[in-house]
Amino acid sequence: MTPEAASAIERADEVLYLVTQPLTAQWIERANPRSRSLHGLYASGKPRRKTYAEMVDEVLAPVRAGREVCAAFYGHPGVFVNPGHEAIRRARGEGYRARMLPAVSALDCLVADLGIDPAATGLHSYEATDFVVHRRRPDPTASLVLWQIGVVGELGYATSPRRENLALVVDRLSRAYPRGHEVIVYEASPYPLVADPFVLRVPLEQLPDAQVPLLATLVVPPARRPRRDRALTVRLGLS
Ligand SMILES: C[S@@+](CC[C@H](N)C(=O)[O-])C[C@H]1O[C@@H](n2cnc3c(N)ncnc32)[C@H](O)[C@@H]1O
Repeated sequence: MTPEAASAIERADEVLYLVTQPLTAQWIERANPRSRSLHGLYASGKPRRKTYAEMVDEVLAPVRAGREVCAAFYGHPGVFVNPGHEAIRRARGEGYRARMLPAVSALDCLVADLGIDPAATGLHSYEATDFVVHRRRPDPTASLVLWQIGVVGELGYATSPRRENLALVVDRLSRAYPRGHEVIVYEASPYPLVADPFVLRVPLEQLPDAQVPLLATLVVPPARRPRRDRALTVRLGLS
């Protein structure tokens, strides 16, 4: 996290947090003893949407009581974190000051670990279930990042990966990429200085049988170069 985010945690009257690592939880609790986890709101069989609504209520209750509240979510608090955005929207709607501080997302980690520069390839990203059910069209000339591939079709709370639905992702991708195209199953290390990230390169067609960790993100490198528009190139004065 940034020094600004760390300071927001330290100074808050109350900290509500949702993290994946016990060490992170320990750090937060040491930084501010008035901290508690939101994790207990998850339950097996409970729709994720309901859990998120309860998280927002938990964050807003002390705000309404006049306290300075910091809600801390792992990674970037606004990247694939519905309650992060919703809590801010609701707080502002009720007339309270609310601000999101950025942090390091899984996307930032994969750019660093896999050496992918969005400027070189272009970059687009989707949530994996959204990608399948909305028949999103990937651009095979740009890098593609698919989030939540460990929980495709899971609208509740998963404690282990749901790999059986990966075949649907492969079906969708196969319309734009060769079935033998290499894809990368990626999981950033929670302790980057002492442990390596999980990086598994497999042909697309073998993805359903691959070892996919619960928190994995899928990277699909470009399959071909984009075509240059000659007229526009000339108009821009580029050779
Ligand atoms: C609910 S989202 C939270 C994302 C988080 N806020 C962030 O900024 O990275 C969970 C998804 O983020 C991605 N993710 C979370 N932790 C990850 C990790 N350590 N390595 C790779 N992807 C991760 C996965 O796609 C996972 O399914």
